[in-house]
Amino acid sequence: MTDTTTDRAYPATGALATAENATLLLTNVRPYGEGEPVNVLIRDGRIADLDAADDTPADDTVDGHGGVLLPGLVDMHVHLREPGREDTETIATGSAAAAKGGFTAVFTMANTSPVMDQPVIAEGVWHKGQHTNLCDVHPVGSITKGLAGEELTEFGMMAASDAKVRMFSDDGKCVADPLLMRRAIEYAKGLDVLLAQHCEEPRLTEGAVAHEGETAARLGLRGWPRVAEESIVARDALLARDYGNRVHICHASTEGTVELLKWAKAQDIPLSAEVTPHHLILTDERLHTYDGVNRVNPPLREERDTLALRQALLDGTIDCVATDHAPHGSEDKCVEFEHAKPGMLGLETSLAIIAETFVRSGLADWRWVAKVMSERPAELTRLPGHGRPIAVGEPANLCVVDPDAAWTAHGADMASKAENTPYEGMGFGARVRTTVLRGRVTCRDGEPAAPAPDLA
Ligand code: DOR
Repeated sequence: MTDTTTDRAYPATGALATAENATLLLTNVRPYGEGEPVNVLIRDGRIADLDAADDTPADDTVDGHGGVLLPGLVDMHVHLREPGREDTETIATGSAAAAKGGFTAVFTMANTSPVMDQPVIAEGVWHKGQHTNLCDVHPVGSITKGLAGEELTEFGMMAASDAKVRMFSDDGKCVADPLLMRRAIEYAKGLDVLLAQHCEEPRLTEGAVAHEGETAARLGLRGWPRVAEESIVARDALLARDYGNRVHICHASTEGTVELLKWAKAQDIPLSAEVTPHHLILTDERLHTYDGVNRVNPPLREERDTLALRQALLDGTIDCVATDHAPHGSEDKCVEFEHAKPGMLGLETSLAIIAETFVRSGLADWRWVAKVMSERPAELTRLPGHGRPIAVGEPANLCVVDPDAAWTAHGADMASKAENTPYEGMGFGARVRTTVLRGRVTCRDGEPAAPAPDLA
């Protein structure tokens, strides 16, 4: 029988492999934060028992301390910077940050150097991620060669490679040419791969560094208007409608985008969208310090945008959370605001922000968190083995959250190579304690496991 719940084209290697029949006992956890605590026995990378006895023998045991058991989180939008900018993040450090954040699968964007526009580059990333063995790292192929916006890449070759590329994006840049986007949609349709659009009409954002509004005007910063995003969302919704294939909207940031998504979904247009934690909770009011850590693309907007985005995530208009984890070194961040590179770290704080904003506030429960941070992104990317129900026989890709952990975010404490967190010194009330990838503990008591020895 073909195993459709796992996607590994590359076996786990060396000492880090989950040994045949290896067992892990995860004690004292509450699946989806519901009911009495249980012990979960994992054998050979799959959930074997959801009510194991306390004295069940196992090769490894982790005490869940009554924490919330969730499916391993899936992030469909990160930048792990390898190849090309290994000084800011590598697949090994990014995987450690992912494991610390509760993630068992991430999709790393194509704006690497060289650009991920050929099978050999995507395969290099995939194999390295599997060798690191802390998180499944799926390369995102670029839509256009060299991100130049002129010629489509070979989606078919990348999809057929060892990396099984299932998502394509020029993220960081918009596929602005409408004819090229139409052709991409038609090409993607035959392969059932997902196109993720960075919605930014480039003519409307020339030289722009901050949200166009009162704050940017007061601070003398060139404005990035909402219409630059919304005009592309509207255009791509219509292209998706007329050429009949899926388009995913990266990092939705405006109230108007929410309205357009509502309209598109009401017409059954296959449009999906993600929102970042920073666009849910931060606004452009932070810019008054001119600290480059707050520069991000799309920019932090206004309170009415954050409120609309939160409501849209709650009611399903926005499908999921994605971090847009974008590491940058201090030489690119600790400079004049206009010269700072856009982007913020996100992997290690995402769950805490979503828990704080939606669960601790009483707006949603942990089942909803499982949906927006694991199940839905796995569905959108057609990712087998992740975002699955917590049930006997399912792959053991899991995380355990302490729902009452008081902790403070510090860039210097992060597993990421870079330190550009906008949450420096901010306190949170929930934290990932344990992450399990195919039955192997990749994060224990908040500390990520070591990557493969040659990558440490
Ligand atoms: O802020 C951002 N940083 N937005 C993007 O779209 C790209 C990303 C990066 O690569 O740093």
